[in-house]
Amino acid sequence: MNMNRITRRQFIAAASAGSLAAVTSRAIPAYGNLSKEAGKLAILGGQPVRTKAFPGWPIWDENADEELVLSVLRSGVWSRAKVVAEFEKKYAELMGAKRCLATTNGTNALLTSLHVLGVGIGDEVLVPPYTFIATIDVIFLSGALPIMVDTDPETFQINPDKIEEKIGEHTKAILPVHILGLPANMDKINAIAKKHNLLVVEDACQAWMAEWRGKKCGTLGDLGCFSFQNSKNLPCGEGGAIVGDNDEIMDRCYSYHNFGRPYGETELTLSGYVRLGTKCRMAEYQAAILLAQMKRLEEQTKRRAENANYLTSRIKEVPGIIPHKLYEGVTRAAYHLYPFRYKKENFNGLSRRKFLAALKAEGIPCSGGYDPINKDPFFERTLRSRNFQKMYSKERLNRCREQNHCPDNDQLCKEAVWFFHSLLLGTKKDMDDIADAILKIYENRDKLT
Ligand SMILES: Cc1ncc(COP(=O)(O)O)c(C=O)c1O
Repeated sequence: MNMNRITRRQFIAAASAGSLAAVTSRAIPAYGNLSKEAGKLAILGGQPVRTKAFPGWPIWDENADEELVLSVLRSGVWSRAKVVAEFEKKYAELMGAKRCLATTNGTNALLTSLHVLGVGIGDEVLVPPYTFIATIDVIFLSGALPIMVDTDPETFQINPDKIEEKIGEHTKAILPVHILGLPANMDKINAIAKKHNLLVVEDACQAWMAEWRGKKCGTLGDLGCFSFQNSKNLPCGEGGAIVGDNDEIMDRCYSYHNFGRPYGETELTLSGYVRLGTKCRMAEYQAAILLAQMKRLEEQTKRRAENANYLTSRIKEVPGIIPHKLYEGVTRAAYHLYPFRYKKENFNGLSRRKFLAALKAEGIPCSGGYDPINKDPFFERTLRSRNFQKMYSKERLNRCREQNHCPDNDQLCKEAVWFFHSLLLGTKKDMDDIADAILKIYENRDKLT
């Protein structure tokens, strides 16, 4: 019987009666047809569900991609020039943005964005704790204070209904993160920003091609930032980009990322700096890799989403496995990671750590994801640092500490399970292997506890 067609109630009834194998003969074929040994958990010495490797990452074309990179190498022009400009044009078009500025990485894309929009000392920035460290770093590095907004555990995104209560007199911006490549609720975020006159800088560093109501993530706020680091769905080793529609702001980004030289200045001028600047220019060979990678992005994004939907359909009835939800406004998810929540109560109290170990033993690479970044020692150390003590009063620093309480996020960090995006580039059969491994652990949960 097709596991997709059995109801959750049937599944639970069959599972608790010990006859899961009978109703999931396709899901766990070994149980129905083979020896008992085949159903033994791999972590206990049985055969793993899967021994074949999943697709690796990054991938490239030995002819076309290598030729593009070699042509840059052979040109001797490795620093920012026409290949970067070509990438910027194409990426802006792909995103549906007026302009794109390529940078050395996503961290510097975010730093540049905050700087040119005037976020700095004295300001507060609203941000979710369920993110990569760089999102929080850039706020502190700008001299501003991050104010944590708890996570919506169903979507893994910033909880839009908890934003307003965190707004204070010094709030300057919201920094939503489309974490895992799943869009945050941009209708609510933008409405709040408009009402309170706040800037919106989107951290779309994991969300290439994700869409909210048909518009690409990264184009929905004042500026949007992307990462092209090696693990990312659009990779070039290290790289980043800012997209935006406002020419004046984008000119400022360009200038800031190029030592404060005026917009468009590509010559090595030694005077005429128009503002304080830094240097975070993308190199030509990085852009060449991106141009090659971009050719596959649409097809890969489609495949990831199809496989993600299929995987969800296979595991959503398993007690204790709570698939992620997408907001109603999401027209496309990018799936940098595929997440679900694991409830140990339904697995005889089997800890997430042991569940992950059992899943890995079955041949399924997986991770528990982020720890609560807001509780990391760096946070308090930064608030206690000499610079922050000089910049802020005790009251201001205490407000930052007091707001740093996100119980839903704490719980989510204990329950999350992630699959890396390259697993979703495989076949339907690959998804079946993942689902079968989860079901196998579920059925054998009492043997692990
Ligand atoms: C959510 C998020 N923001 C920012 C960054 C920083 O990007 P980069 O590593 O390119 O500096 C990353 C990178 O992993 C990220 O995942």
